[in-house]
Amino acid sequence: MITTAALLHDVGKTRVPLEILNKPGRFEPHELQEMRKHATFSGDIMREEGGFPDEAIAIATQHHEMMNGSGYPLGLKGDEIHPYARMTAVADVYDALTAKRVYKPGMPMYQALLRIMKNRVTEFDDQVVDAFIKVLGLYPVGSLVEMNTKEQAIVAEPNPLDSRKPKVALLTMPNQKPRAVPLVISLIKRSEADGREITKVLDPESFDVDVEELMKEVKERGEATERRRR
Ligand SMILES: [Fe+2]
Repeated sequence: MITTAALLHDVGKTRVPLEILNKPGRFEPHELQEMRKHATFSGDIMREEGGFPDEAIAIATQHHEMMNGSGYPLGLKGDEIHPYARMTAVADVYDALTAKRVYKPGMPMYQALLRIMKNRVTEFDDQVVDAFIKVLGLYPVGSLVEMNTKEQAIVAEPNPLDSRKPKVALLTMPNQKPRAVPLVISLIKRSEADGREITKVLDPESFDVDVEELMKEVKERGEATERRRR
């Protein structure tokens, strides 16, 4: 139910004039006012259609409300906002920040998470933010990172026990030379980590790497290792 409702939360945008909806860049104040009506419209549409549970309507109408009351349309605060709407708010902002649009590049996942973490408590429900980071990992799968050894790596698997220590595939050696085959290590296993820690997140745009291609390779290597272990 949450998934369906969360997918439909922006259905009210169909009632916002197209020239506003498709406008690249900043809105004029009157345009912003129109755009913000989409949350209320989403709820209206669900009520008109009928058959949607109250939770779904709450998600639709409240997904732009903020914990400190600075959101819209009603400026609800804290517990006044439905828990499902608080969850949708985090996912929605994360999606908007990381999405590539005609008028902006997608923000790297790590930066988007940092932005959300900065606004935990004020804008978001901090428990929701915690859960979100736990699920996604502080370094989401596919993030390019640099280790304290100066080796570059790609995050292969989040670690729910400690989000700072995911499984990574090392792509280069400490001298920056590429490895012939990526070495997959788990940063929580001392024997594999060998003192390595993530120190920096790299922007894939500024590197000549195809993250999707790399992930495929890492996955194949991981499966091969699994087979050997069996
Ligand atoms: Fe929305």
